Amino acid sequence: MTKTNDTPSSRDIEAALSEANKMVDLIKTPDAEVTDDERRWVAESTYQNFADHINKGFLEYRKSVTETEDFALTDWQGEGSILKDVMGREYIDMLGGFGLYTLGIRHPKVIAAVKAQLDRSPQYSQEMLDPLRAHLAKVIAKLTPGDIQYGFFANSGTEAVDGAMKLAKLYTGESGFISTLKGFHGKSLGALSLLGKAVFRKPLLPLLDGVRQVPFGDADAIEQELKAAKEVGDGIAGVVVEPIQGEAGAIEPPDDYWPRLRQICDKYEVLLIADEVQTGFGRTGKIFGVDHWGVTPDIMCFGKALGGGVIAMSGFFSTAKIWKCLEPNPFMHTTTTGGNPVACAAALAQITVLLEEGLADQAAEKGEYIKKKVLELKEKYPHIIKGIRGRGLLLGMEFPNDEIGYKVASGLFSRNVLTAGTLNNAETVRLEPALNIPYELIDEMLKRLEETFESFG
Ligand SMILES: Cc1ncc(COP(=O)(O)O)c(C=O)c1O
Repeated sequence: MTKTNDTPSSRDIEAALSEANKMVDLIKTPDAEVTDDERRWVAESTYQNFADHINKGFLEYRKSVTETEDFALTDWQGEGSILKDVMGREYIDMLGGFGLYTLGIRHPKVIAAVKAQLDRSPQYSQEMLDPLRAHLAKVIAKLTPGDIQYGFFANSGTEAVDGAMKLAKLYTGESGFISTLKGFHGKSLGALSLLGKAVFRKPLLPLLDGVRQVPFGDADAIEQELKAAKEVGDGIAGVVVEPIQGEAGAIEPPDDYWPRLRQICDKYEVLLIADEVQTGFGRTGKIFGVDHWGVTPDIMCFGKALGGGVIAMSGFFSTAKIWKCLEPNPFMHTTTTGGNPVACAAALAQITVLLEEGLADQAAEKGEYIKKKVLELKEKYPHIIKGIRGRGLLLGMEFPNDEIGYKVASGLFSRNVLTAGTLNNAETVRLEPALNIPYELIDEMLKRLEETFESFG
């Protein structure tokens, strides 16, 4: 395609340098010294740059654009559970970056560790052995259940799932997987093959061969698939499941589901893979989602919260027995930046905060508190809210339909509370605040929720 000079993307080296410098200079300017004109420039140019260079489609879906009359809400600053847009408007963050911010925004202990590591060595040489990665793997081995011992670090959740799939294939010598309907594991081609929704899979078919999705929470369905696969000679490497489905709307399985999955996978000699990308590190009221049922999976995938809400970080872990298949060729799975020193510093600090501040217990208590209060509201407004489900601080408020759910999500947004919920996906509105969110902010959010219900008349 030829570019003409009047397209926003035409090549202009001087403009590229000056635009890059403009933002670098602004980043370095102390916030108190950023002028109103500069703030307006950020808000306006961000909107325009999304339209010209990211994806116009987002501008139709984000409440931060569709629900504001002047400047689109533009991410700028945050602390704990309060987000400030570039124009200085404050929001209570009940979305928590969809599970990213277990410690809130900019936890001081994580920031301090990252800054210190930045001053020493942000990346590693790729030749010398790197101490932080090795140490973090040891710490995670101590934190995980059973005999989980070895790990590989990457940057995003979907990479962790792809890596886990490769490990399962290498170990078992088989290629099929079973996952769940409505399950979410990421959007790279491997993880996407597992995903339980046509909207993201269908336009990209064919994906990986031999993946079968069954209803979540139904252990019999998994056993039936394994039995059928065996009968017809289709090899299955693993069963990949979220402990509690996150993206699908905080859906809990029956209590015997995970123990039964363990038995079934052992019986059919396939690997049980827990995708803890959203549930891991305290989110559901235990350190890991599988801890609710005392089950040790064969492989565990981590992401989101692992980097303390500061650095992108993910990983997958397994037992010594399974990991052995990677020993003959340790380069079988690699990534240049995964597990870099800054990310490992963030992850190590994150784990100290999780344990020192008892964040899993905090999540369990605060989750119960929010559920109780929301159920009280349900008594008063049964035509608006149907209920609330989930565990710890992975919660989903249930509404009779998308329309009512979206009215609530946008009503909360106009009262400066961030939650999930888009125009066509709001029957369940997820609440995933930081695990250390103060009770005063929870109460304030509940007050604004009731005001929103009240405004429906
Ligand atoms: C359970 C689960 N697995 C994997 C992913 C993918 O993670 P990422 O978006 O970092 O690739 C997500 C993201 O929401 C998730 O919830």
